[in-house]
Amino acid sequence: MSAKIIDGKQIGQEIRGKLKSRIEALALKGVVPGLAVILVGEDPASVSYVTAKEKACLELGMHSVQSHLPADCSEERLLAEVQRFNNDPAIHGILVQLPLPKHIAEQKVIETIVPHKDVDGFTPINVGKMVIGDRCFLPCTPHGVIQLLKHTGVVTKGAHAVIVGRSNIVGKPLANLFVRKDINSTVSICHTGTRDMAAITRQADILVACAGVPELIKADMVKPGACVIDVGVNRVDAPDSKKGWRLVGDVDFAEVSEVADSITPVPGGVGPLTITMLLYNTVEAAEWAAK
Ligand code: GUN
Repeated sequence: MSAKIIDGKQIGQEIRGKLKSRIEALALKGVVPGLAVILVGEDPASVSYVTAKEKACLELGMHSVQSHLPADCSEERLLAEVQRFNNDPAIHGILVQLPLPKHIAEQKVIETIVPHKDVDGFTPINVGKMVIGDRCFLPCTPHGVIQLLKHTGVVTKGAHAVIVGRSNIVGKPLANLFVRKDINSTVSICHTGTRDMAAITRQADILVACAGVPELIKADMVKPGACVIDVGVNRVDAPDSKKGWRLVGDVDFAEVSEVADSITPVPGGVGPLTITMLLYNTVEAAEWAAK
C-alpha cells in the first residue's frame, strides 16, 4: 500500500475540540445546544447512524432527543413530530434520518422543518442560500468532505474534482461547494448516464465516490497521485464474519490505495466528519438562537 490514509476520526476530533469551547461559552449564557433526531422504521444502517449521532452529541455535552417512530407510521404523525420540535425552544437542530419509508413524501417532511433548525441543510431555503453563497447550514457530508481535504492539505485551487454520484444529499451540494471561490476547483459529475466514466474519473485530481455502489471505483479508474474520498457505506455479505456482513465503500480500497496519493478508509473516513459537521451546525444554530 502506498497511499496516505486520511484519518477521519482524528480530523473529526480536532474539529470537535474547537466546538467544545463554543459549547462552554454557550453554557455561560444558560444555553445547551439541542438536537432532535427522528428515525422512522428499523433499517439497521439508519439505526446505527442515529445511535452514533446521539452518542457524539452527548460526548460533547449537548442535549439530544431521539424520536423513534414505527415503519408504518403515517405521514401526518411524522409531520406532527417535526412541528413539535419546530416549536420546542430546547431544540436548535432537527434531523429526520433518510431514507423514509415509501409511503411518506420525503420532500414534504423536509420542507416542514423550519430553516433555522434545518441542521442537515436540506430545506429549499438552505439549498438556495448555499448555491448563492449566503450564510446557511451546509449539508453535513459535503461539508465534511471539504474539511477532510483542508485538514489533509490537499490543494483544491485549480484542481479537477470528479464526483461520482448526483444525490441531493452529497453529489449535487458537493459540486456547489467545490466551485466556491475559496475552494476554486473545476468540477465534473459522473452518474448512470455518463458514457465513459473511467475516462473522466482518470482526469480527477480529487475523486469523490458517492454513488452507493460497492467497490465501483477500481484502480484503472484513478489517476496515479490522486486524492480519493470514499463516501460510500455499503453492507456486503461476508459469511465468514460474525455478523454475516462487512462494510465496504464505493472504492475498491485494496486496489486503489496502490495508485492514489491519499485515500479515506471505510469506516473511519468520511463518516466521522458527517457527524462532526452535524454537531457544528447544531452549535451554530444554538449560537444564532442565543443572539
Ligand atoms: N441519510 C444518509 N445520510 C444522511 C444525512 O446526512 N442526513 C439525513 N437526515 N439522513 C441521511
